[in-house]
Amino acid sequence: MSNYHIKHLEEYYQVYRKSVREPHNFWEEIAEEHFLWRKKWDTVLSWDFSKPEITWFEGAELNITENCLDRHLATRSDKTALLFEPNNPDEPAQHITYKQLYHQVNKMANVLKSKGVRKGDRVCVYLPMIPELAVAVLACARIGAIHSVVFAGFSSTALATRINDANCSLVITSDGAYRGAKTIDLKGIVDDALNSCPDVKTVLVVKRIHSKITMKPNRDCWLQPLLDAAPNEAKAEVMKAEDPLFILYTSGSTGKPKGMVHTTAGYMVYTAYTFKNVFQYKENDVYWCTADIGWITGHSYIIYGPLCNGATSVMFEGVPSYPDFGRFWDIIQKHKINQFYTAPTAIRALAKNGTELIDTYNLSSLKVLGSVGEPINEEAWHWYNDNVGKRKSPIIDSWWQTETGGIMISPLPYVTPTKPTYATLPFIGIQPCIMDEHGTELQNNQVEGRLCIKFPWPSMARTIWNDHKRYKDTYFSTYKNMYFTGDGALRDEVGYYRITGRVDDVIIVSGHNLGTAPIEDAINEHPAVSESAIVGFPHEIKGHALYGYVTLKEKGESRDHNNLRNEINQIITEHIGPIAKLDKIQFTPSLPKTRSGKIMRRILRKIAEKDTSNLGDISTLLNPECVQDIIKEAL
Ligand code: PRX
Repeated sequence: MSNYHIKHLEEYYQVYRKSVREPHNFWEEIAEEHFLWRKKWDTVLSWDFSKPEITWFEGAELNITENCLDRHLATRSDKTALLFEPNNPDEPAQHITYKQLYHQVNKMANVLKSKGVRKGDRVCVYLPMIPELAVAVLACARIGAIHSVVFAGFSSTALATRINDANCSLVITSDGAYRGAKTIDLKGIVDDALNSCPDVKTVLVVKRIHSKITMKPNRDCWLQPLLDAAPNEAKAEVMKAEDPLFILYTSGSTGKPKGMVHTTAGYMVYTAYTFKNVFQYKENDVYWCTADIGWITGHSYIIYGPLCNGATSVMFEGVPSYPDFGRFWDIIQKHKINQFYTAPTAIRALAKNGTELIDTYNLSSLKVLGSVGEPINEEAWHWYNDNVGKRKSPIIDSWWQTETGGIMISPLPYVTPTKPTYATLPFIGIQPCIMDEHGTELQNNQVEGRLCIKFPWPSMARTIWNDHKRYKDTYFSTYKNMYFTGDGALRDEVGYYRITGRVDDVIIVSGHNLGTAPIEDAINEHPAVSESAIVGFPHEIKGHALYGYVTLKEKGESRDHNNLRNEINQIITEHIGPIAKLDKIQFTPSLPKTRSGKIMRRILRKIAEKDTSNLGDISTLLNPECVQDIIKEAL
């Protein structure tokens, strides 16, 4: 029996048991049978969570692009690999076949090499959702350069921080981006960022919106002429299993973003295997994940997972509301999408627009609906199920993280019975557990606590770039010998998991992970601001929105508060990006603090949630009197 494709529930349990009892044999078989290796491994797995040190397939050699591209040329060369749907519905879609993608990637690889990029160098990719983004990522992997994709919604300051942290020598960007009816000056943002990035020697610029931009001599080059002149074959660099494949930044509880490092072999095996099963992908299916490649979902489930399986993966440049809220349904109808993977925030925004539009489209091609990025609330789940899936397509509520590389807890469609708001069962090989706050594992069902993972899986991040100590402190120090996810979860009476949300200082706004510390750092730069504290509060569409409590230096500050609010949001936009703007800003003379000087966010969170009936014990506060004032003035 091949364990690669699980088709029914008994098989799931059987394979799951094997993956837990004999993880080495299990993963060895999967790796052996379904991937292309230059050299096989000596050791399947070695691990020590106390260090933490984890290696998978040590001794093996491979190139992930040979798995994503070369090996399909014999049987799928004319099959569409990437199906590009532009922002403007009147612009024709592009069907890029495996053969064409192979040549484009090789050309781009040759361009990178001609610009001096070598194995192990870091390349920053700051592009909109256009085919060149996927091509750039794969071209880096082809030559062994480490890609660091930065989501094109981040500001110049955020971009510069990421470029400098990874010491990138080259940036790939475009003259601009289309986003619905708007255009965004990406090149201008890059120019700003590079004022503080002395190590960047080269900027390659894709022409997308034909805007007027400045090209800095000896640094900036238009990409197309270089591609035109480049040979269309490039030798794939032979990579070791544990060579880094990419860095991807995620927010943390402290100011600096964490550059999560993913390595080659384990990441490839796990993303490919999860893709096949979580989406039950069949050879002629057309699969669409609406995420941006700037996030992990795009890395694992637009590029690597689908292409490793020879799938057709759709890339959409635009937004769900342009030219109207029927755009997603239009794309599903037009390309006969079979698997559709999106985020709860998008579902809620679409639901708010009713069902009139959706009913005018033919969505009968759909077989699987996915959700990712934050807990999906019951109402959104039912709306998705009733109106998009017409109660015929199972909803795959998939829980995972940038750090986990691939999907960790999820139903398998047509295999696992679904339950609204539950991510249900662990994926093959994943050993989740629920811990109480004293560090004891809650063994039974019907328990709630903090979600940890007990055993390594192939696609887990191996470190934080340049900061292994932070990796250890953040993920492996809260509970001994466990990976701590930062999420709360419960397990119901049949063993299904439901993720209840973050238990740390990360807030998920419209599916984007935002750390409170970097936002507070940005606000505190405003000359009038003394201190600030950010908490999340429930929001109809975004899931959570941000509420800022701000104290001013001059207590009787007479400046117009609305102006100050605008200025604060402007600073946040400059430092991080518009996604981190605050929905509410309350000015307050002081913030509640513990005797050791720590801001008591728990209380602020309750006030923001308008749940002030039970604030818990506030007697330990240094300044309990401020709490009533804050409640009185709450927005
Ligand atoms: O809190 C969990 C939430 O998103 C966090 C990870 O965010 P990020 O690293 O940006 O990756 C998002 C895409 C994989 C998690 O710690 N999260 C993600 N998926 C779910 C979820 N919460 C509940 N249900 C989910 N399906």
